[in-house]
Amino acid sequence: MNHSEPNVVPKVYFIGAGPGAPDLITLRGARALGAADLVLYAGSLVPEAVLEHCRPQVQAINTAGLNLDEQRGWYVQAREHGWTVARLHSGDPAIYGATAEQMEVLRGLNIGYEVIPGVSSFTACAAALGAELTRPEVSQTIIITRGSGRASAVPPKEALGGLAAHGATMCIFLSGRQLESVVTELLAHYPPETPAALVQRVSQPQERSHRAPLAHLLDGLTLSEWALTTMILVGGALGEDLGVTSRLYDPEYAHRFRRADKPDQEVEA
Ligand SMILES: C[S@@+](CC[C@H](N)C(=O)[O-])C[C@H]1O[C@@H](n2cnc3c(N)ncnc32)[C@H](O)[C@@H]1O
Repeated sequence: MNHSEPNVVPKVYFIGAGPGAPDLITLRGARALGAADLVLYAGSLVPEAVLEHCRPQVQAINTAGLNLDEQRGWYVQAREHGWTVARLHSGDPAIYGATAEQMEVLRGLNIGYEVIPGVSSFTACAAALGAELTRPEVSQTIIITRGSGRASAVPPKEALGGLAAHGATMCIFLSGRQLESVVTELLAHYPPETPAALVQRVSQPQERSHRAPLAHLLDGLTLSEWALTTMILVGGALGEDLGVTSRLYDPEYAHRFRRADKPDQEVEA
């Protein structure tokens, strides 16, 4: 660690750690992690395995047990010592990362920051299911949401029922403790046979997933086992029947990068 230059204004890198596998962080994120003097990581979600990208003996603080003021204390120390800080968040920091409040603290301390995006858990879950979340004429919209929680209530206009009425693909975060109420609300809008899935700790050694039609999603499960680090996915796009295909790879469909077999049909992609 280079603690030798006091009063140098440091920089904080908010880094998306990805869903947990150490090789699902971006190259830029891994490099920033490897260059940091101090690492603050959200240990409730970011496995220690991701810290393999850090310098040996770097000071790595698990923020799971720290309130914002205590985290501020670390930023103050970093400013005093001129440390570069890696602030590691699970998935992508822009999604349920509580980063905005930290950024406000940093602005107040006159500390610069930069965000390095990450692989969000919802796309990692789609990958684990071998699914595409958008399907022509089935759904071209992905709704990312969560059930209301103690730490942050969901605004009433964004209640699950209202969002489910769109029939789009939904990826529901932070709701493993509310599986029954979530499924009940979804069933008020989606047909019972709609494909649905639970994916837990995707990309980590404990990863598991469960797929079923929505009406039967919870049948036979011990719900308490799915309470943490679980994603709920629902929507027709998750089905295995391909149905309508996009025109993108149709030989008669042309766009800027490919000519059509029938050139008179050439159109913009
Ligand atoms: C505080 S949010 C963080 C989301 C994160 N910023 C992201 O982009 O994935 C935590 C929730 O994300 C989801 N999540 C995070 N990591 C996950 C993983 N490895 N597998 C499944 N779901 C995960 C779960 O719904 C969990 O309750």
